[in-house]
Amino acid sequence: MKIAHISDLHVNLDIRDTNLPETEAALDFILDKGVDHIVLTGDLADNGELEALETLREMFRRRDLLDRDRLTVVIGNHDIFGGVQNIEEIFDFPEKCRAVDFEEKVRAFHRMFIETYEGAEYARDDNPYPFAKRVGDVLFVAFNTVARYSSTGNPFASNGVIDDDQRELAAALLERFGGEADTRIVLTHHHFKKMKVVSRRWMQLMWENVENRTMKMRKRKKAARMFKERGVDFVMHGHVHDSEIYKWKELDISNAGASIKNGKSDTLRVNILDLAKKEIDASIEKISFKKQRKKLSA
Ligand SMILES: [Fe+2]
Repeated sequence: MKIAHISDLHVNLDIRDTNLPETEAALDFILDKGVDHIVLTGDLADNGELEALETLREMFRRRDLLDRDRLTVVIGNHDIFGGVQNIEEIFDFPEKCRAVDFEEKVRAFHRMFIETYEGAEYARDDNPYPFAKRVGDVLFVAFNTVARYSSTGNPFASNGVIDDDQRELAAALLERFGGEADTRIVLTHHHFKKMKVVSRRWMQLMWENVENRTMKMRKRKKAARMFKERGVDFVMHGHVHDSEIYKWKELDISNAGASIKNGKSDTLRVNILDLAKKEIDASIEKISFKKQRKKLSA
């Protein structure tokens, strides 16, 4: 089985650079390769808007991807809180975050891609996360790692956490269903090791520097211990706009955060996990991408 991992699409319908053509090109590349399953680890929408998710839903539907065997999706911080779109918005951002109904945003995201969760095992009745989903010989265990907004502890709503409840519930899911699967893969939005900023544009660079200082994944060491104890074979995440296959605390990890946003307008990246061999073969494929530029009429 081959799994393609992409992340951080940041689709935004309010600005000209919507990331939609890039996402379509990445999906078409993956489908042309004959990959069996696609994993999307969050930040599908840039600014938490349902319209962006609806547009993606339609894009998936046209490619027969609204199917539990073809696609697995988890939520990211931008899907709930959005982000600062310009310098003026820095001052309005706390108000915007306070107004967000966190639970409703999570449920709405889940409803949007509901076909892809068919047959998933949920740990709780009132919250879709964590969940376990079996695809072929693989068991995916997915978390919502988005931390709640806090003016002191999480002022940019970009931090992550695997809280004790989610960790224990996910451990029970791995205990119950992990043994029957050949491969156990954990899906999170947030990252495990600190990574470098890749953006070149100064606005983005400045914002990402701010975000980097407030981009933490709390309780990740406890989570990593649990993953090792429960025989997790791979972790997939996004959030940091870099694409890398790395090891952290003896865990094999795929970060696909630079699938679309990687500081280069002519390159996309897709992480591929090939499970056919005894050891999982993970690689990053670069796709050249030429954006069709609209001619400005006078
Ligand atoms: Fe993120």
